[in-house]
Amino acid sequence: MTSSYWERDTSRKIYAPLQKDLETEVLIVGGGITGIVTAWNLMQAGKKAVLVEGDRLGSGVSGHTTAHLNISVDAEYARIVNDFGEEVAKQVAEAASLAIELVGKIDSAHQLGAHYQKVPAYDWAETTQEIIELQRELKAAQAAGIRAEEVDDLNALPFPTGMVVRWEPNARFHPLKFIYGLAEVLLKAGVQIYEQSRVIDLTEEGDAMEATLENGTTIRAQQVVLATHSPIFMHSVHPRMAPYRSYALAVRTRQELPDYLLYDMKDPYHYIRKEADGVVIIGGADHKTGHAEDENDHLQQLKDWTEERFGIAEYLASWSAQVFEPADRMPFIGRSPSQKRVFYGTGYSGDGTLWGTFAGYLLSDLITGKENKWERIFSPSRLNISAEAGDFLKMNMEVAKDFVADRFQSDASDVKEVGLDDGKIIRQGVQQYAVYRDKQGGLHVMSPTCVHMGCVVQWNKLEKTWDCPCHGGRYKATGEQLEGPPAHGLRKADL
Ligand code: FES
Repeated sequence: MTSSYWERDTSRKIYAPLQKDLETEVLIVGGGITGIVTAWNLMQAGKKAVLVEGDRLGSGVSGHTTAHLNISVDAEYARIVNDFGEEVAKQVAEAASLAIELVGKIDSAHQLGAHYQKVPAYDWAETTQEIIELQRELKAAQAAGIRAEEVDDLNALPFPTGMVVRWEPNARFHPLKFIYGLAEVLLKAGVQIYEQSRVIDLTEEGDAMEATLENGTTIRAQQVVLATHSPIFMHSVHPRMAPYRSYALAVRTRQELPDYLLYDMKDPYHYIRKEADGVVIIGGADHKTGHAEDENDHLQQLKDWTEERFGIAEYLASWSAQVFEPADRMPFIGRSPSQKRVFYGTGYSGDGTLWGTFAGYLLSDLITGKENKWERIFSPSRLNISAEAGDFLKMNMEVAKDFVADRFQSDASDVKEVGLDDGKIIRQGVQQYAVYRDKQGGLHVMSPTCVHMGCVVQWNKLEKTWDCPCHGGRYKATGEQLEGPPAHGLRKADL
């Protein structure tokens, strides 16, 4: 798997796995931005919390984000105003602002050294169609009370930028320094943290929830937060979101770039920021999970675009990550519609650190029974048929197509065709197998049926993982659960 610039740049502490049964008020499952900020807010509210992470803190998408804290959210204000009205657009902007400030407040209060820096953000549009879209977005953003304005030019970029809009407020930060630093603060304040502690089952037992970990230990909690990016197990939000992969590069560019957040209006769009050390981080080349011919091609597209636009003087890291886009574009943050003691935040689109931080604040209020004006608009129970119907139908027709078509798929008919450190779906008669040959030549044979809802996983040639196109479940090459809704790994099989 690829590793991000953040992972290469940060030393970390190791936390031991949980070895004995526990009871607590709140169990937080997942040690990324959502989990860690929820724990911090609960600590402030005096709640007893335990945080468990299946792998290592920040090892999921929080360690692979590009960490933009931007007021110009992916949900798009023009769409929010159209689908939900101006008042909701105002509340979304206020929520985004709150998250941008909260990261800075936590970083400075605990001296995390997470390189938090307020910076301006600019969108630029090059074609007539892009200009029309940017004009529409600017109008809606201003109606929502956001400080957004058209400016003359973006002289700092080495090419004509057409229409340019400046946005405030925004910030950038180092996500892993933030997570690792805050974990230490939490630990000192009495929050228990366990790594390599994967939850594989969650049931309601009397007046509490009981979580069972892979090693058989259990945790009883009054409330549970599933901070696993997409909540593990079955939830009504899964068919209401589509998983996408996005790519990122850390480079030193020949053309000096300003310390701004920068976005073009392409589809998929490119996103650019600097880090405190002057390194430029560029993202884009998105595609639907499990739908790329070769994921390496998407990374190459991003490299080519960067070379062409700015010139690459030094190449430092490249990686990819997954995002979940809800059908109505608004994140789902709140209480599970089917389990009153279970809460989650998901559907952050490309604004993971922003909405993950906000989720930490909102979920804490819901858990402690404090009134919060954002409860309704982000609730997983919301249903706005006109906002959701078109995309919901489209994404679920694609899921149905994947579900059926992938059953007839095969990448090879014989294991001899599987090279070292490679994976292929092999078909023999009516049976399909997910086969990975490790670097030493050992074969790992698994059922390719995703344990979540039965779609067929696809081999990701860049990350060397098995990715599920339906709801973004991901597994390591050898089948262990990595991210998304499945709570355990692919089933072993015999060829
Ligand atoms: Fe839902 Fe695979 S993640 S079927």
